[in-house]
Amino acid sequence: MENTISIIPKPNSIVQIEGSFTLNDSTRIVIVNNLKTLKPIAEHNASHLRTVTGYPFELATSSKKKDNSIILMLDDKLKRLGKEGYQLTVTQKSVTIKAPSTVGVFYGMQSLYQLFPPEVEKNERVVDADWSISCVTIEDKPRFPWRGMHLDVGRHFAPVEFVKKYINLLASYKMNTFHWHLTEDQGWRIEIKKYPKLTEVGSKRKETMGDSTPYGGFYTQEEIKEVVRYAKEHFITIVPEIEMPGHALAALTAYPEFSCTGGPFEVGTTWGVFDDVYCAGNENTFKFLKDVLSEVIPLFPGKFFHIGGDECPKERWKKCPKCQSRIKKNKLKNEHRLQSYFVQRIERFLRSKGKRLVGWDEILEGGLAPGATVMSWRGTAGGIAAAKANHDVIMTTTSHCYFDYYQAKPDSEPKAIGGFLPIEKVYAYEPVPAVLKPKQAKHILGAQGNVWTEYMPNTKHVEYMVLPRLLAMSEVVWSAKKQRNFEDFSKRLNEHYKRFTYRGYNFRAPK
Ligand code: ACM
Ligand code: ZN
Repeated sequence: MENTISIIPKPNSIVQIEGSFTLNDSTRIVIVNNLKTLKPIAEHNASHLRTVTGYPFELATSSKKKDNSIILMLDDKLKRLGKEGYQLTVTQKSVTIKAPSTVGVFYGMQSLYQLFPPEVEKNERVVDADWSISCVTIEDKPRFPWRGMHLDVGRHFAPVEFVKKYINLLASYKMNTFHWHLTEDQGWRIEIKKYPKLTEVGSKRKETMGDSTPYGGFYTQEEIKEVVRYAKEHFITIVPEIEMPGHALAALTAYPEFSCTGGPFEVGTTWGVFDDVYCAGNENTFKFLKDVLSEVIPLFPGKFFHIGGDECPKERWKKCPKCQSRIKKNKLKNEHRLQSYFVQRIERFLRSKGKRLVGWDEILEGGLAPGATVMSWRGTAGGIAAAKANHDVIMTTTSHCYFDYYQAKPDSEPKAIGGFLPIEKVYAYEPVPAVLKPKQAKHILGAQGNVWTEYMPNTKHVEYMVLPRLLAMSEVVWSAKKQRNFEDFSKRLNEHYKRFTYRGYNFRAPK
């Protein structure tokens, strides 16, 4: 009888054959070529497998003797699998992971772990385990290049240790993009050396929803670098988000001179959308933002840079002499055009630094900045309009991608922001809107799950909201459309709950 293979996300092709391969005290890891890039993967996994099995897992390079080995190699002949694909072959004699590039070998290793019993995830010696896996050939590659998860650390802060744990989870399920929402009305979370009050003042609030308890937290630039390094080892690109022109109350509390009214303000203590936003008529606002971006940009090697752009009320701009004078001088029709002017200036700046601007779909209002990439969250209309105008798009609609929504009936769940997003609905998500022609559909780079933390006061609760829905999203963005089947997914998912437990993640257990 065939063993069930429970890999998530579902690989493109799985061919099982008779027989099995078993780890024992002389199994080695052999790096055939590209020693420099493959060695960290080999070392990391050898170290974990030593812990869990107690076997020595000697490392070898280009060995002639390849029996009883886990063999890692790059192979140009597999170019058809694209940049991130891999081939994993298990025979009675050996395991071979081949890929056209290093990241593919990394993903092949994630799949290999999922072939072993869940106990392989433990961080301690497991005695009496049967480390056998059935013989199989897997060929795999992702459907989309942007496979994202977002985390809002503004409403509730997440320490570096948790961010790393979150990155581990993303990598295990072959997600490659971490959208780090670093600034909010309720907290500015990244050190900016030129404007120290952003964190001295802006990272703290006096209470949260009337609890009379001060709250705060931020990352130093050294900590950010450490997380970026860690993400790179896990083949994850971080997209930082510095919000503008709205959701800026924490920054404006620190530097009220960049608002329309001059303040004073206090860092948000309740949730919602606030009228006080950056003044778009004041040149000093742009100087401030460019200074901030100039410190943030070098910390993040990825191409994309998120500037928010969502939920910016125009109340202050309508009454501000500076904003109105800008509207007149630049012959802008209204405040939406003023927002577009704002985003276009920032887009030019980011482009001059080699970055591509990403913004929430409100950046379409008043005219899209050239080169901007749109995150379509208020439904699909923004994504469709942007793709039709030849702009790249990431789909992250509230209906299927908002992991702050309830995952079951509200009366049986901890308080959430609202909505209803059970895992089967995440699973049913189709990121490419049917109205797009094939050429336009190419602009859909992928999708992501968003984790807004208003009602997630601690990281255990973040884990609860993310697991298991993240696994459904991973299959949406990785697996071939024709491979997707919720019943089949649910069976495979059952095997992953133990893995979450062994790795120390909280999750919503099936009821
Ligand atoms: C958003 O959820 N305000 C992008
Ligand atoms: Zn103004």
